[in-house]
Amino acid sequence: MQAYLLDFANFMLRWLHVIAAIAWIGESIYFVMLDNSLRTPKADEDRQKGVFGELWAVHGGGFYHNQKYATAPAKLPEDLHWSFWKAYTTWLSGFVLFVMLYMTSPGFYLVNPDSSWAWAANLSGWQANVVALLFLLGGWVVYNELCKRISPNMERDGVLSLAVAVMMVVVAYLSTQIFAGRAAFLLTGAVMATAMSANVFFWIIPGQRRMVTAMKAGEAPNPLDGKRGKQRSVHNTYFTLPVVLLMISNHYSFAYSHEYAWVIMSLFIFAGALIRQFFVVMHAGKIQPAYPAAGTALIAVAFWVGMPGNGASRDVMANEEGTSLAEVETIIESRCVACHSASPTQGGFGSAPAGVSYDTTAQIEGHREKIQEVVASRYMPLGNMTGMTDEEREAIAAWSE
Ligand code: HEC
Repeated sequence: MQAYLLDFANFMLRWLHVIAAIAWIGESIYFVMLDNSLRTPKADEDRQKGVFGELWAVHGGGFYHNQKYATAPAKLPEDLHWSFWKAYTTWLSGFVLFVMLYMTSPGFYLVNPDSSWAWAANLSGWQANVVALLFLLGGWVVYNELCKRISPNMERDGVLSLAVAVMMVVVAYLSTQIFAGRAAFLLTGAVMATAMSANVFFWIIPGQRRMVTAMKAGEAPNPLDGKRGKQRSVHNTYFTLPVVLLMISNHYSFAYSHEYAWVIMSLFIFAGALIRQFFVVMHAGKIQPAYPAAGTALIAVAFWVGMPGNGASRDVMANEEGTSLAEVETIIESRCVACHSASPTQGGFGSAPAGVSYDTTAQIEGHREKIQEVVASRYMPLGNMTGMTDEEREAIAAWSE
């Protein structure tokens, strides 16, 4: 019953999380498009009012006329629309999901028993939870310090972007060394997603509040608040595509169980940012196919790196003798079926994980390639909970029809 409750809550929370993220990212993409699509207003009176850009649009059977003021209109309306709950809801629901899924079973999901760093491989469950939380917090602190130190007045944003890019490679590397592959991808995405929400919470919204307060008091708002809000929301724009990719990576063990998972992850992050850049400049009226071409080239490199056989040191080689189906069944029975059964005996599982069960010969026989893939990459057994040996992995690799 408990496992069922947890599964059900997880399902509903994931729904909320995805919907909130769609709303947030959709709005963020819309505003970047709007900002970059603004053209000098045609009417004299608009320019005299202080309007510096406008966009006419048709959508859903109606015509819209957006105007952006260079600083602010002469009088601020009372009913100003603010956007922040979408960002907070996305982060909060994502965090609760992480706690429910990963932190309740850190032994399966967080600890990386194959880590080349002994301290990481030997983390206990609660230690792994603490390290994961520190990882998220540390990511934000480092990112925020980079922004504050490198480009405090937004005058060196180019250098800052480079520094953030380097930081993400380091985050990708550290996460794959410390955590199990699936969690490493998720946590790297979560470092970016946390920076995005924290940018909204600590900088963008407070800055806007100061601007509104100053305007209402008849004072000129501090231009740095506006510039900083822009700087952080530009970062958020480049984070969106990579974050979504990392968040949906959880079924693609070929990527995160690979020896060079951090390289694959970094390539995906840069590919996402480059593809986003194409749309950013496109809305400003420039078509620059070099960006998506470069992004696609990076994805092709990731494809090559991830190909079976590359990074073979972590893959398992078939041992000499071929393995019979009966021998395979014995291994699966003792190493997999505790979880992968219609009625799992392993605590915490109410139904077959990922819908995969190995209760019958047919279920095993029909999934030879998949079984060999997840066993060779050491993705399964999850957290090597059932203590599968290297000899058994080699035997599975040597199983042929
Ligand atoms: C401790 C419990 C546990 C054990 C033991 C275990 N698994 Fe899994 N397995 C899981 C969970 C949980 C998932 C779902 C993970 C996910 O959502 O990606 C999973 C997913 C899978 C998948 C689907 C992966 C995908 O990409 O969708 C396969 C195939 C699989 N396991 C095979 C095996 C094999 C083969 C063994 C034995 C060598 C094994 N598992 C042992 C818990 C376990």
